[in-house]
Amino acid sequence: MIKVLFVCLGNICRSPMAEYVFKDMVKKEGIAEKFYIDSAATSNGELGNSIHYRTRNKLEEMNIEYGNHVARRITRQDYDEFDYIIGMEEQNIINIKRIVGEDKENKVFKLLDFSKNPRDIADPWYTGNFNKTYDDIVEGLEGFIKYLKKEMLTS
Ligand code: 4NP
Repeated sequence: MIKVLFVCLGNICRSPMAEYVFKDMVKKEGIAEKFYIDSAATSNGELGNSIHYRTRNKLEEMNIEYGNHVARRITRQDYDEFDYIIGMEEQNIINIKRIVGEDKENKVFKLLDFSKNPRDIADPWYTGNFNKTYDDIVEGLEGFIKYLKKEMLTS
């Protein structure tokens, strides 16, 4: 079982979008049973809230199923439990390490570092551009799946 945790600031826009898009991708690849996939926040700001309505609208537009999301904050135990902890932007990575401590097992990644053009995923809470967020997330996840396939072949 490969355990993947997507992380952003609030856990209502980017990380749940990545969670549900990735669940959809692995389902379509026929490898869903190999994964446990979740998402979390670095801040307390949106704890207990469901996904942002514009994230929900985008997922519906793309025919991607989503669950009954409840925003939660990443914990130290998550670091032990998950194999990949994937932030959306550099500030997420800094905040993740503040919460979980030093990344001794090299589990912490930035999503678009798996793409050919590494960069941050801008926060749609501020940009208002959920289409761009979606495109960036898909680009990162496609790179991540390629990376995992290579890892599986070589390990
Ligand atoms: P997210 O977006 O980190 O992609 O979930 C945000 C959601 C809420 C806030 C900031 C970013 N906020 O400041 O409440």
